Amino acid sequence: MPRARRRELLSKRMIGYVNWHRGRKYVHRREILDLITRDIVERKPDHIAVTGDLVNLGLPEEFLRAAEWLHHLGPPAKVTAIPGNHDAYVRLHPEAGTGHWLPFMEANDAGEALFPTPATRFPFVRRFGDVALIALSSAIPTMPFIAAGKIGSPQRELLGNALDKLAREGLFRVLLIHHPPLRLQAGWHRGLRDADKFKKVLQQHGAELVLHGHNHEQTVLEFPTATGPAIIVGVPSASEAVEGRIPTARYNEYAIARQGGGWRVEMVGRSVAASPEHVWQCERRVLRER
Ligand SMILES: [Fe+2]
Repeated sequence: MPRARRRELLSKRMIGYVNWHRGRKYVHRREILDLITRDIVERKPDHIAVTGDLVNLGLPEEFLRAAEWLHHLGPPAKVTAIPGNHDAYVRLHPEAGTGHWLPFMEANDAGEALFPTPATRFPFVRRFGDVALIALSSAIPTMPFIAAGKIGSPQRELLGNALDKLAREGLFRVLLIHHPPLRLQAGWHRGLRDADKFKKVLQQHGAELVLHGHNHEQTVLEFPTATGPAIIVGVPSASEAVEGRIPTARYNEYAIARQGGGWRVEMVGRSVAASPEHVWQCERRVLRER
């Protein structure tokens, strides 16, 4: 994190700044993120999805550094990012904030042809062959100590339309959302405010895979929808590692393939292990086979 100027801390940032220096900086470490990043890049995935919280306090310099990191992961055509609650820590002019990440936060031509991006930018769709990514923003500025998120009714309505359209095309739908989508996954002060309404959209319109962050925990849930089960996966942070403490930094790889009339999805987890710190395959699991 860059140094903050005094006037930049006259906001919710002050509390976040104190939190950072009292604890978070010992937990979220640049060298751990670099280990994870190197491993991802070396394994040459077809596509990389980043589910938010790229900055801490929303300092303008942080957004620039995060943009640099995104470019390091890969070109915008191969990397999709969505914002998290920390990325909306304080209200900023878009050009000074997540605006730096726009090439990573917009539809591709194939996605736009299926679902035109609204003026509000979310949801946007990227399509890669049989797979479609539907990117949501649950990032809203909040009061201090609150890390909640919200999808909002315009975005929920558009999401329903997008999911229907992509289902008609027979695509594998991957929903990206920073906050865990179900009410039971996070309390009031840090969960999705409209989780119940979002749940109805998911139930009615379906999705094959939902990827989220925020909880810094590896979780896999199966959620029944009108179009079959949606697998909801939460991933730990990519920078968090303290020796002897779980979870450590991790990312997940997904191999998605058509099988019979359905889909086969395999997940491989790659995580940081201690002394010497290195990345290893900590899990391999078939998430669905129909
Ligand atoms: Fe978060």
